[in-house]
Amino acid sequence: MNRMTQANKKGWDGLAATHYKNYHIDKLLAGTPLLNELIQKEVGDVKGKSLVHLLCHIGTDTLSWALLGAKVTGIDISSESLKYARKLAAQMGIGAEFIEADVMEAAQIVQDKYDIAFSSTGVLCWLPDIQRYAQTVRHLLRDDGFFYIFDGHPFRSVFLDEAGESNTQAIHGNYFRKEVWQYDNMGDYTDADLKIPVNSYEWNWTMGEIITAFCEAGMRIVFLHEFPQYFYNGYTPYDVQNEKVELYPCTFSLKARAK
Ligand SMILES: C[S@@+](CC[C@H](N)C(=O)[O-])C[C@H]1O[C@@H](n2cnc3c(N)ncnc32)[C@H](O)[C@@H]1O
Repeated sequence: MNRMTQANKKGWDGLAATHYKNYHIDKLLAGTPLLNELIQKEVGDVKGKSLVHLLCHIGTDTLSWALLGAKVTGIDISSESLKYARKLAAQMGIGAEFIEADVMEAAQIVQDKYDIAFSSTGVLCWLPDIQRYAQTVRHLLRDDGFFYIFDGHPFRSVFLDEAGESNTQAIHGNYFRKEVWQYDNMGDYTDADLKIPVNSYEWNWTMGEIITAFCEAGMRIVFLHEFPQYFYNGYTPYDVQNEKVELYPCTFSLKARAK
């Protein structure tokens, strides 16, 4: 495993317990899927479909798909996150499978094929190799399957200064940045005071690199949608803030067919 990914894993292990506390687990346990309506609409009916969720964290989205009828598998590098994902699945009485793996190595570990591969909210910045991610997605899909991702739009990197601080009042960042972002801790979007004392690393992928990676993996792009809203307000991925419409793309969704 890449040494930077290893460091990120420690950070995510450190955040898992707080997310189990701060995500809307009570709602999920009461049987309400936490996925926003746009994602549900764009992915469509999942009843009876097999779905693999890449970078599934504590499994809240994974198990939301199970509530909507899918047979689900989650993949994540963080053993602590998967501990909570398995606990949640048991509490909900759902027979989900959770696999601990670096997604960069998942093609060597997972040989099952799925109808749907899914990733959402806070994904691509953790990946050191976008081409390998696209090839992994293709590897996991049946020939008639599809991939769907909903994530922060790469355009937002123009608001990041050299220290990685976000300031949307001015463009001072480099959209084409190739250097890895290195931080001396792992911050948390659900608790501003929580900082896990490990180095963390993030990568920058342009929209062109993202789309091209899936095309080169042999997949067919069905749509690329760009949205002027964040869809979440930086507390948990489930706190919707649709009313704030910006003049630039904040979020994107992409659907690609395996063939
Ligand atoms: C922001 S969370 C995923 C978003 C999810 N929608 C959520 O908030 O519940 C990022 C997840 O990616 C996982 N992750 C980061 N790098 C990874 C890698 N190389 N392979 C697999 N999982 C990885 C982390 O462990 C973490 O659980």
